[in-house]
Amino acid sequence: MAFILSQRAQKLTSSAIREILKVTERPEVISFAGGLPAPATFPVTQLQQACNEVLDTEPTAALQYGPTEGFMLLREWIAQHHSERSGVAISAEQVLVTTGSQQGLDLLAKVLIDPGSTVLVETPTYLGALQAFSLAEPQYRSVRSDDAGLVPEALSAEPCEAARFLYCLPNFQNPSGRRLPLERRRQLIEIADRAGLLVIEDDPYGELYYEGAPLASLLSMNPSGVVYLGSFSKVLAPGLRVGYVIAPPDLHRKLVQAKQAADLHTPSFTQRIVHNVIKNGFLDEHLPRIRTLYATQCRAMLEALQRHFPAGVQWNRPEGGMFIWVQLPEHIDSAELLQAAIEQHVAFVPGAPFYANEPQPNTLRLSFVTVPPAKIEAGIARLGSLLTARIEAVGRPGKAPAAAR
Ligand SMILES: Cc1ncc(COP(=O)(O)O)c(C=O)c1O
Repeated sequence: MAFILSQRAQKLTSSAIREILKVTERPEVISFAGGLPAPATFPVTQLQQACNEVLDTEPTAALQYGPTEGFMLLREWIAQHHSERSGVAISAEQVLVTTGSQQGLDLLAKVLIDPGSTVLVETPTYLGALQAFSLAEPQYRSVRSDDAGLVPEALSAEPCEAARFLYCLPNFQNPSGRRLPLERRRQLIEIADRAGLLVIEDDPYGELYYEGAPLASLLSMNPSGVVYLGSFSKVLAPGLRVGYVIAPPDLHRKLVQAKQAADLHTPSFTQRIVHNVIKNGFLDEHLPRIRTLYATQCRAMLEALQRHFPAGVQWNRPEGGMFIWVQLPEHIDSAELLQAAIEQHVAFVPGAPFYANEPQPNTLRLSFVTVPPAKIEAGIARLGSLLTARIEAVGRPGKAPAAAR
């Protein structure tokens, strides 16, 4: 049957990561590619109990259509949690439960971006946000970022007044794993506030810090100028598809209208399951287990990188989250390396798709959370050999990269 695609649909491309994930599903592949949480952290027993309780006690509400804004008890839990965390009053009326925080990104694109609108993003940034925003056809301006994240001085040099929003990921960013220091958070908020620039704070990894305490959220620094995206995907299970947006009232209203058009509401059943599991403090005992597991695997990967990666390759040491970001010598293209790696049954995600502008093909993202330490060692050793061979084969033309690790 003939059909004519909209111009918007014609521009759609598949996520590089989802394409790679198809290959990495093969059991022989050691995959550092996915952004998937470790299945060992899924609270299966608690979820099973919650399913039974929800169906026993409120089967009609759980299986019936519900309000677009979300299940009120869950919205109240989220509001209270963030009020306690941030020290500012967040009301349940500001919370919109979404079908994963990915839907929050999609709804924000729909209500905030016109074709050609300027959107400010970090360098690099979350690929899924670029996918969601791109459907609304913005112009991206990539704000300079360094190993610590977005550089506030670079933001002050941008035409912030003309931009619809700044999208940023202050905690253990996907893909780079970096955490924005407190002082930079303050500066960023000050610059954005002065320019009247709306800030979108995407924070699915905020609870996955390995040591110490979390840093103050951007939301806590300016609740009327920040839209916060949260998710239960990385702290319970992504298959539940429960996330949320905390937004100032006017914007909240528009997001609700956009969500009505998108899916009426997030499933009544999964919202109640999430609430049932977390309502009595389950996360306080569950999160430390996730943090310990991920910190152990992160350490295993850092040690393996130190052992097997050749000089000239650099990587960061994340303080939380799920990712390590690797910078190869300038002349090595990680997409080409991936082809060779897949033949050796190892996978990672090339870095270029994470750039809204001027991709850096010599970067790549490694996830350590779903691979046990012995396999991390084997996979990194294979990648290290491939890299050494490639660096030797291609030679070191032009500017030699810093040898520091
Ligand atoms: C930075 C970031 N934002 C949003 C999402 C979407 O998460 P979900 O829709 O599962 O809540 C992800 C998923 O990996 C992510 O890494």
